[in-house]
Amino acid sequence: MTIDLISSEGEEFLSFVQQSLDCRLVQTTNAASYLSLKENALSFHSQNFKNPLIFDPTKGQLGYRLKRSEQEGLLKKALGNVKPGSVILDATAGLMKDSLIFDSLGYRVIAIEQSKILGTILSVSQKANAELSKIEIRIGQSENMLSQLHFDVIYFDPMFEKVGTALRERNLRLIKEILAMENIHQDNQVTFEKLYRSSYQKLIVKRPIKSKPFSENFNYQIKGRSVRYDVYV
Ligand SMILES: C[S@@+](CC[C@H](N)C(=O)[O-])C[C@H]1O[C@@H](n2cnc3c(N)ncnc32)[C@H](O)[C@@H]1O
Repeated sequence: MTIDLISSEGEEFLSFVQQSLDCRLVQTTNAASYLSLKENALSFHSQNFKNPLIFDPTKGQLGYRLKRSEQEGLLKKALGNVKPGSVILDATAGLMKDSLIFDSLGYRVIAIEQSKILGTILSVSQKANAELSKIEIRIGQSENMLSQLHFDVIYFDPMFEKVGTALRERNLRLIKEILAMENIHQDNQVTFEKLYRSSYQKLIVKRPIKSKPFSENFNYQIKGRSVRYDVYV
């Protein structure tokens, strides 16, 4: 799949994006979705959304340092006695909000994203933001990379079956569009089984509060208002 790319003049990361993705550099486009590179940030535009998907860890919904309180508390409880400095493999990077929380708590993070488009958006942002430099970003299916990596904890936050229409879930709907464009479909239960069978100190799985666990063999659960963490030791 080739995607149109509009780039402002003199963008430093243009060749990086062209090497990472199958894209066609254009001045303007009528495509239903396309990418733009401006001020060293790569964005995904869709005709179904007024604003593009961007990744700026310092702003908006991703201004995680300001807005992470409930999530951070729950993740801290889920991690329990896992020592800072341990390596967390974030098997579902997405927009790396959770990776950024782990990073800020002093863990080393390997963030894996299956979408090339989203992974490249993250990597471009990493090149532009020194504060992301400690996180190792990889593109691919995390369950296929386990044997190449050393880690202590696996964190699995797959897309929930139902993604709501609320504004705060806009980014997830945009990610769903990207995955559909890239023809990525997977069975979360199958991915879970592969992660579950690998070796780790802890496997932490995020689920909607009322949904069934992928396996009943969890050791404990941490419950928030709308989400739950199933922890396997
Ligand atoms: C719900 S989002 C994760 C949100 C993320 N925890 C955050 O804080 O922004 C799920 C993401 O994981 C990715 N993903 C799902 N299964 C994956 C897999 N097996 N390997 C790599 N990435 C995966 C999806 O493409 C999507 O971007």
